[in-house]
Formats: sequence, structure tokens, C-alpha cells
Amino acid sequence: MYTPAFPALCQPLRLRGLTLSNRMAAAPMGYPELTAEGLLTQDAIAFYELRAKGGAALITVGEAVVHYATGRSHGRSINLSHPDVLAGLTQLARAIRRHGAAASIELAHGGKFSAVDSLPGERHRDKVKYGPVDEVMPDGSRVIAMPKEMIAEIVESYGKAAALVKRAGFDMLLVHAGHGWLLEQFYSPATNTRTDEYGGSRPNRARLMLEVLDAIRAAVGPDFPIELRISAEESFPGGYDLREAIELAKLVEDKIDLLHVSAGSNEDSFYETHPSMYMERGCNVRFAAEIKKHVRIPVATIGALNEPDMLEEIIESGKADVVTMGRALLADPELPRKVIQNRTDEILRCMRCFTCLAERMQTQTRICALNPLIGREYESMFQRPATTKKRVLVAGGGVGGMEAAITAAQRGHQVLLCEKSGELGGAILGDKYIPFKHDAYAAARTLARRMALAGVEVRLNTEVTPQFVRAWEPDCLIVAVGGSPIVPFTGPNVFLASDLKGKLPGKRIAVLGGGLVGCETAVYCAMQGAEVTVVEMAAEVARDANARQRPALLKELERTTVRCGLRGLRAAPEGLVCADADGREELIEADAIVLAVGQKPNRAAADALRNTAPEVRLLGDCLKASTLREAIFQGYHAGLDV
Ligand SMILES: Cc1cc2nc3c(=O)[nH]c(=O)nc-3n(C[C@H](O)[C@H](O)[C@H](O)COP(=O)(O)O)c2cc1C
Repeated sequence: MYTPAFPALCQPLRLRGLTLSNRMAAAPMGYPELTAEGLLTQDAIAFYELRAKGGAALITVGEAVVHYATGRSHGRSINLSHPDVLAGLTQLARAIRRHGAAASIELAHGGKFSAVDSLPGERHRDKVKYGPVDEVMPDGSRVIAMPKEMIAEIVESYGKAAALVKRAGFDMLLVHAGHGWLLEQFYSPATNTRTDEYGGSRPNRARLMLEVLDAIRAAVGPDFPIELRISAEESFPGGYDLREAIELAKLVEDKIDLLHVSAGSNEDSFYETHPSMYMERGCNVRFAAEIKKHVRIPVATIGALNEPDMLEEIIESGKADVVTMGRALLADPELPRKVIQNRTDEILRCMRCFTCLAERMQTQTRICALNPLIGREYESMFQRPATTKKRVLVAGGGVGGMEAAITAAQRGHQVLLCEKSGELGGAILGDKYIPFKHDAYAAARTLARRMALAGVEVRLNTEVTPQFVRAWEPDCLIVAVGGSPIVPFTGPNVFLASDLKGKLPGKRIAVLGGGLVGCETAVYCAMQGAEVTVVEMAAEVARDANARQRPALLKELERTTVRCGLRGLRAAPEGLVCADADGREELIEADAIVLAVGQKPNRAAADALRNTAPEVRLLGDCLKASTLREAIFQGYHAGLDV
């Protein structure tokens, strides 16, 4: 008989006329592929629908801008001022609700952070921006203090937007008053120094927010729940703190039904809003727990949540009433359903690599390193099972090979995966002992479990040779035999980063190679108390880290000494001998040298398998040493192509 393993998470929650079926909610996350006018696309609708299918009780659509002329927070956000937006909104609400989830949408206005340039050449910065006060932004753009007539217009636009989303069929809405957007800009004593009734005292600074909430209530009537998202602290010099947030919570609680407690501000605390992999899971829960002591309404918490035991404890202990997740539900949109069905060993846990956020800056698309469905949810709806069952042999049990095997098996093929070593996981096995990489390592276990469920036969300690292929006679051979570390020199005090297995090889360590792997290894060793020097030939370290991950990593690297422009030549008993661009030699004193100078493809092994089956597909590091994200992407698509 079924008994929920996470009973607190499975409880319903009543919010006015709406009952949420469980306590897990999907955070507002924008989808950038909208039309140039900010209208919804099939792709955007499918992006939200995927999470609705995954069992979260509440799905919140990200950043719908109430007054597009002045409030557009990103290059692409939903334009609620557009006369043609209603049909798309209606389709979106239906797409969420048809899976039993409640549909909510975030009403937003960027204030002084509106019209930022998301991509080079957009020139939004030439447009006029409005905030609480006159200001010149760091990019040189001008902010004008919002005149009172405009404040009235903005308040009215919130009311109109609320009526519109209710008409479109949304069950509730969320007002964004956190992260440094307009309503927080007015509430923050740091950014609002107005001298009229919208500035100065706390009630004056909260006035705009309260007027907005009143306008919304007047528009939606008494049964429609309103959620308010606030930041518990701003974390920049002069920004408000938790005490100020508690006072805000008390001021608004009679006007809202769910208080959503996030943290940080656009001003200068991105990583408080989006905790990096170097921060503890659930590091912001304490804010919700504290605020909850001061209000009577339900409170939602958010930030680096992905572990069912922790989610359950948060609800069970009363720290919060709802657990809201952003990135965790990109990595695995089905997390809530798996929690409810006691299938937590199938959850792919977000590793907080920031691919999702960085990719928008790079290409204006949304993707996830672990989940190849993100960004192609719509086309994936038309994926068909295979018409002819084939015999598929996968050589290599790294993440790319496993993803290919799962996808092919789920489509109905007979799949055998062989791994030369005794363990599945390939390159990510090196992450096993690094605590901040543990969710990446855990992906190997989850993929192994998913293979078992998909019916993939796995043989460990089995090398796929041309003879093996000929004997097994596959219709399709997928070659994912990975790469090997580059070893420029050896010595008794020289170790490979992947061989450390959590042990410090010395007290003073020189890490040769300042790419992602070298930097992360260096940070880990420094965290364990070693004195670490990172040696990199290029002018900068961590150049392969994405735009959001890199600043967080560079901050952690402050625990180490970084030496750029040096080439590692050889190991000496006293340390690492390097040379600068002019060939001048220098000794970096160390007891141990850790090599992290990259991977080279296992090309010979891969080439030997070409033309051994009617269909052969090479993927991942054996083609070109790359990232986990690339291996999963290629593996998934190889599995679809069979
Ligand atoms: C890809 C992505 C898009 C986001 N878009 C929005 C948005 O449109 N509006 C918003 O208020 N927050 C947005 N956020 C912030 C999330 O709602 C959430 O506060 C943050 O990611 C921390 O939660 P997490 O650790 O569970 O990801 C976004 C976050 C991500 C990762």
C-alpha cells in the first residue's frame, strides 16, 4: 500500500478560493524566446507546461511586465501592455492548469533597472528609465525620478494587468517586490531618498507597494490569491536588512495570501538571490523562518533547494509553508512527482552550474546542463517511439553514453551499455569527493538508476573492441569512450586532479592549469587547509567558466594564490618549475603538484570502432574534450536519432 515518504510536502494548502495540491512550487523563471514585442510563443508555453506536468502544485510564469514602455526588465519579457497578449496568456494558463497545477504569473516592473542591454547592440540603455530618484547608472544611462502622475499610471497598470491575467484563466498572481526591481527600489532606504509621500518614513516607502496591492485586489476580487515576493535583505552597502523586511511583512500581510521570501538585489547581490554551488543548500531558509514568526499568513521559501529530505524538514518543522524551486525544476521538472511517489533516487539534482542563466546572456536561449529538454520542450512533445526496434550498443558509461542509452531504450530499442572500468560516471567521478560538486557527481548515480528503469543492460569491466562489436552485431553503435588527462610530466610528487579522491597530496600544493577543473580542485584543497598556488599559462584563469559561474569561482579562488602567464615545465623535489613568456624560469615551491591541464580525446579507441556497425555515432569527449553539458546534449540527441 502507498504511504507518502514525505507527508508534510504532500499536504494541500488553501489560499482563499484556491487549494494547492502539495507544498512544492515552481519559482518564476523567465523564458527569453518571446516575440520581439514580448508576446508568448509555443516554446515559452511549453517551457512552463513541462514543470506543470512534473507535479509542482503551483507554476509561476516569470516576469510579465505591467507597463512595458517603462518597466521592461530584460531584453525579452512578457508584455502585458500589448493589445494582443491575451490569447497567448490564456493558452499558457490552460497549458499549466490542464495538468492539475495552479497557474500563477509574476507581475513585474524593472524601475531603474528597466531597459538594460541583454545583448550587445540592443541600445536599450539609450531609453529613458524611471526610478524613485534621479540617478546616473554605472553604464552612463539616466534615471528620472518617477513623477506622481506616472506613479498613478503604474499603479493603475498593475490593476489592469491583474484583471487581464485573471481573465486569461490564471488561478493567482505574484507581485514582484524583491530583487531590486521597482517596488523594492521604492521600499529601500538606500535607493529611495524622495522627500514626498513616497519617500522617507517606512510607510511612505511602502506606499507604492501598498497602492499596487490595493489596485490588484480591487481588480481581481476577494477570492483570488495574491502572492508577494520580497527580498529579506538587500546585501549591498546601505541596503535594508532582515528587520526592515519583517516590518514590511507586517505592513503587507493583510493584503496578500502568500509571502514569498527571497533575498538579494540587482544592485549587487546576485549570488544571494541565486546561491552558487559554494553556498549551503537552503541557505536562505532562515529568512523565511524568521519572518514567519511575525506574520499570520503562509510563507514560501526559496534558494538552492533540491533535496527532498530538506524540503520535508522545512515544511514539517514549520520554517515555511511552501518550498519554491527554480533551477532544481529545470534540472528535473519531475522532482515534485518523484517526491510524492517516493522515487527520489530518480531525481537529477541541480548542481548550480549557472548554465541556465549564463546561456541567456550568451545566446538569448534557455538551456540546462543536465536536462536536454530545456529549451526544446515544445518539439519534444512530438517525439515518437522508435518504429523499428534496433539493437543498440553503447561503448562508454560516462554521462554522454548513459544519456544516449536511456534515450534510446526509452524509445523502445534494445540497449547494451559497456563500461571499461568498474564504475559508471566517467569524467564526473572526479567530483565525488568535492563537496560543492557533489550534485554533479550524484548525476552519475541517477543516470545509472534511470538506465535500469529504462531496461538498459549494463556490463562493467567490459571494453568494447571491434571484435566485441562484430560478435554482438548491433544495428547501431554509439561510441562515448571519453578522454584522458593530459600528462605533461610525471614525478613522485605529481598527481592528477582526478586521482586525488578527496585526499590532500601535500600541505603546499601547486595546481598546474587554471581552467575550471584546476580552479575547482585548487579551491577544494584550499578549503581543506592547504596553501595553494594555481599556475596558468594564459592571462586569466577560469576562462572556460560561464559568465555567471566565473565571478563566484573567482571569489572562492581568493583563498589561493593565482599566477598567470607561467608555463609549467617540470617537477622538482622543491616544487613546480615554470617559465614566463620570455623563458625565465621560476620555482613555485610546493610539496605536491596537481595536474589539471585538460583532457585529450581517446581518439584511437574511438577510431578503432568506426565502421564496425551499420550505424556508428561518436560523441562526447572522445570527439573533442568538452563539458558535461555537451556530453549530455550529444548523448540525448544520439539516442533520439537511432
Ligand atoms: C533561469 C532563471 C530565470 C529566472 N527568471 C526569473 C524571473 O523571471 N523572475 C524572478 O522573479 N526570478 C527569476 N529567477 C530567480 C528565481 O525565481 C529564483 O529566485 C532563484 O533562481 C533562486 O532559486 P533556486 O536556487 O531554486 O534557483 C530566475 C532564475 C533562473 C535560474
